[in-house]
Amino acid sequence: ATVLVLNGPNLGRLGTREPDVYGAGTLDDLRAVLAEDAPELEVDLRQTDTEGELLGWLYEAADSGAPVILNAGAWTHYSYALRDAVSLVTKAGGTVIEVHLSNPHAREEFRHTSVISAVSTGVIAGFGFESYRMALAFIRRNAR
Ligand code: DQA
Repeated sequence: ATVLVLNGPNLGRLGTREPDVYGAGTLDDLRAVLAEDAPELEVDLRQTDTEGELLGWLYEAADSGAPVILNAGAWTHYSYALRDAVSLVTKAGGTVIEVHLSNPHAREEFRHTSVISAVSTGVIAGFGFESYRMALAFIRRNAR
């Protein structure tokens, strides 16, 4: 079975982007950690800076039933199109776990709002790569 690990804007810069906030690890490092955690699954980790591409990946999850771990970056805070795409997955019975490396609630005011939390299966934030690992642990135990 496949798990989609979808990453939005600026997350391709992990490792060099504000390492004090996001850590020193790269997306390739994250991919390796998750693959090691779940050798029985195909961990399909992707990143895009284009919103429509992320929407397309969510439609893919809606069609395939693959569970999703989603770090939507700044789109989290204002994209109603993203919210609607997450909603169409979860309303159809799919799993979408919202994750963040940092704890947005401890940061600027605009990060305190997530327009996707209410339609996500659950939210894990503030634990760096461990946020993704906890989401993956949930999926291994509970999702289809
Ligand atoms: C983030 C938090 C967002 O506020 C920010 O825009 C990001 C990363 C995180 O993983 O902590 O790009 O989603």
